[in-house]
Amino acid sequence: MRVTVIGTGYVGTVTGVCLAYLGHKVTCVDTDEAKVRRLQNHDIPIYEPGLAELLVLAEQEGGIDFTAHLAPAVRESDVIFIAVGTPPLPTGEANLTYLEAAARSVGAAMDSSRFRVIVNKSTVPVGCGNLVETLVREGIREQSPWKEREIGFGIASNPEFLREGSAIADSLFPDRIVLGGQDERTLNHLHDLYAPLVSQQFPAPPFCPRPAKFRMPVPVVTTTLTSAEMIKYAANAFLAMKIGFANEIANICEKVDADAPEVMTGIGLDSRIGTAFLNAGIGWGGSCFGKDVQSLMHIAGDYGYQARLLEASLAVNRLQRQLVIQKLQEKLYILKGRTIALLGLAFKPNTDDLRDAPSLQIIERLLQMGARIRAYDPIAMDVCREHNSHLKICYCDSALHAAENADALVLVTEWPEFAKLDLEEVSNCMAQPILVDGRNLFDPQIARAAGFDYTGIGRTEPRVNTRRTPVPVALAR
Ligand SMILES: NC(=O)c1ccc[n+]([C@@H]2O[C@H](COP(=O)([O-])OP(=O)(O)OC[C@H]3O[C@@H](n4cnc5c(N)ncnc54)[C@H](O)[C@@H]3O)[C@@H](O)[C@H]2O)c1
Repeated sequence: MRVTVIGTGYVGTVTGVCLAYLGHKVTCVDTDEAKVRRLQNHDIPIYEPGLAELLVLAEQEGGIDFTAHLAPAVRESDVIFIAVGTPPLPTGEANLTYLEAAARSVGAAMDSSRFRVIVNKSTVPVGCGNLVETLVREGIREQSPWKEREIGFGIASNPEFLREGSAIADSLFPDRIVLGGQDERTLNHLHDLYAPLVSQQFPAPPFCPRPAKFRMPVPVVTTTLTSAEMIKYAANAFLAMKIGFANEIANICEKVDADAPEVMTGIGLDSRIGTAFLNAGIGWGGSCFGKDVQSLMHIAGDYGYQARLLEASLAVNRLQRQLVIQKLQEKLYILKGRTIALLGLAFKPNTDDLRDAPSLQIIERLLQMGARIRAYDPIAMDVCREHNSHLKICYCDSALHAAENADALVLVTEWPEFAKLDLEEVSNCMAQPILVDGRNLFDPQIARAAGFDYTGIGRTEPRVNTRRTPVPVALAR
């Protein structure tokens, strides 16, 4: 099929490249001309493992191009995806201006040559399917030479569940596809589009093998627009809550000297709970959880419902980021004038995304308290420099370099290369070998044996056996 994807961010680019790899002819459109030029030159503006390689294969399969001109692409297309940003406003509501502009331009560009499906892939408040339809109609009425009744189109919602860092695998081998639509014709179009993905009738790219025991055919949840929109918010709210729960239990574990990772293993093996997303740490970040939970709270509020679980998820996450400061104060007492080294800036490994990254809030607070910051991240330092020039950070070219003469080391992002560090070498180069392991990446015993004063999140302190061993009765006599 002929497909247009509007927005070439993390979602749009990956969606476009994957659909072209499946054999569709794709045009990706963005208003950011510099971004388009980079993509045209195979220079991918984001860090996403495998994306550059898949782009080359996608060009050979269905074919893909990038442009800043929306109208010709829309006219040629059977399916038009909207994948623009929906960032939070200061009130917590989703900013819909990009979505609105995209929907109007689609209306203005369509002609009567074919039936088209306009699919919203951005994460949007419930009801935006209706809003998109209204705006498309406005675009036709106000800017198109065609009459509204001459143009056939349907509106659908196809929320995206990819995770940055594993976006290719998540898109090619999804757990499910959610399709919300107004009518059968619209939904049938999307079933046709996704048929190769559902049946998995394509070779896995050499660098991204099909997972063992992958469920085929891929389950498709076909539903209404509103339910599809709600599924996305509910999924993110649940995941944010699950991590928040693990963090809350970890905080209680610390009080009672229980070990959070062991507790999570113990509960995760219950098939009703599952092991994923139970790692205690300094909290989630990224462009989605915070924004989507806040937006869902707003939607609930519009209907007079106070979403208390969602409020608590946000509150626990906020507190979790402050734990790092608290732990540093417990170890160092005074932070003014101390040098703190941070390992990792990105909100999670395998991405350069710093949106709502815990690192930034921790750095801001430490700087306010008079600390000096040294930091190293394998990928995200350039993005950090570009968008956070106000933060006085000494960027280092390795973890070891960041640790040199530091009074404490904070593990913020669990990049795989940090797990391989020679901890003895790191502790030896520091002014004070204090390690705050914000992701419970290291084995506390190994870190302590390497000379570190180690503290994790919800982990037991070294055990001192305070119980007297009972003296055998025979000896006591
Ligand atoms: N990033 C993720 O991991 C992820 C996962 C699932 C869902 N989502 C959702 O997908 C949506 C997109 O997220 P993202 O991270 O890709 O955003 P992004 O900010 O990385 O990219 C959005 C792109 O849209 C472009 N754009 C804005 N208005 C436009 C217009 N009128 N015409 C053409 N292009 C336009 C911007 O220039 C930008 O390149 C959001 O709603 C987000 O919540 C994101």
